[in-house]
Amino acid sequence: MQSHFKYYHGQLCAEDVPVAKLADEFGTPLYIYSRSHLIRQYRALADAMKSVKPHIYFAIKSNSNLAVIRTLADQGAGADVVSGGELYRARKAGVPAEKIVFAGVGKSVAEIDYALKEDIKFFTVESEAELHRISERAEAVGTKGRIAIRVNPDVDPKTHKYTSTGKAENKFGVDLTRAERAYEQALRLAGVEVVGMHMHLGSPIMTPTPYTEALQKVRPMCEQLKKDVPTFRHLDIGGGLGISYKAEQDPLDPRDFASAVLPLLHDLGLEVGMEPGRFIAGNAGILVTRVEYVKDSPSKTFIIVDAAMNDLIRPALYEAHHEIIPVVQTIERLFGDIVGPVCESGDFLAAERELPAVEEGDLLAVLSAGAYGFVMASNYNSRGRAAEIMVEGDRAELVRARETWDDLLRGETIPEW
Ligand SMILES: Cc1ncc(COP(=O)(O)O)c(C=O)c1O
Repeated sequence: MQSHFKYYHGQLCAEDVPVAKLADEFGTPLYIYSRSHLIRQYRALADAMKSVKPHIYFAIKSNSNLAVIRTLADQGAGADVVSGGELYRARKAGVPAEKIVFAGVGKSVAEIDYALKEDIKFFTVESEAELHRISERAEAVGTKGRIAIRVNPDVDPKTHKYTSTGKAENKFGVDLTRAERAYEQALRLAGVEVVGMHMHLGSPIMTPTPYTEALQKVRPMCEQLKKDVPTFRHLDIGGGLGISYKAEQDPLDPRDFASAVLPLLHDLGLEVGMEPGRFIAGNAGILVTRVEYVKDSPSKTFIIVDAAMNDLIRPALYEAHHEIIPVVQTIERLFGDIVGPVCESGDFLAAERELPAVEEGDLLAVLSAGAYGFVMASNYNSRGRAAEIMVEGDRAELVRARETWDDLLRGETIPEW
């Protein structure tokens, strides 16, 4: 599939807008999102899965900018949230409560109360203790919390250990044997209504095999529950669909994914839910950064840029690879690292590889930064978080202002004493 970030006459453009123009106007580091890419990815998945009329809940954790959420909500997407804050954002962006599902292992009483008040579609329950808490809170306000148990099917998604979630050793969900008991308990609780099953295996997953393996494992339980529990009607197969982070890497084609999983879903007769984040937003975004200095050392060159691990932590946290390209095309190369100004040796965006030969003042674009980019940004080293821009065709708009130094101090006080 074609990227929405391409060179025209040697100048990198976001859709039809020159990236250099945006960097000059809004400064750097700068996140730029392509609205057309978000919509195309959403539609490609919805289309590939259309025979089961999928309910697509965009995983807000991957990119929670209000404009991004609204773009997808306008296409019909719901939201997968993992905190009260994400639920608040989803509602503010216009996602109807009946299209919101709430996952996460540590839902607090306040978060549960808020979600019950909003009357969301269902909670994804990750433990027996949580089941009891939801039931108690729901009873206290005279309602029922709709729930889907998150089963952990013990399947290897073949991804980084920090982004694997559906193996036995991971903290997420309950194993299949415990899930049976959890469903039995849930059916006895007055404050919950059992409406479905949920799983999420990890991310990014580059082949359909982990999904088909997991579906084969959970199908018998789904069939039984469907027979025994009249309200049991949803199967949410989670997110995790991979994208290409490297030029030579083939992304998971949604049509291949669909043709592998659909035969296992059709005859179940359940409503199918999906929670893609990265697949929709990952390649919809770039992080633009300006070169501050070029520093030579005996073994390599350090390109020191104005974006750092506080802006994009994926390389430091997951050893993730991001392609980094010059905003003004060049074929000259050098060998080295791209590093930020943060005082950590782990502060790098690229390590020991062939890079564009850039100079002080040049612009670089870090690709595939639309998911788990800005949302994981921090203020470490008292660095304000970057601005975010959305483009569509030749239009560009600031969708989140750059944080100022005053923003950094908001809420802090110095005791009189
Ligand atoms: C429960 C759940 N659903 C969906 C996702 C989204 O994953 P991805 O962005 O890889 O699609 C995650 C990611 O952590 C998750 O934990």
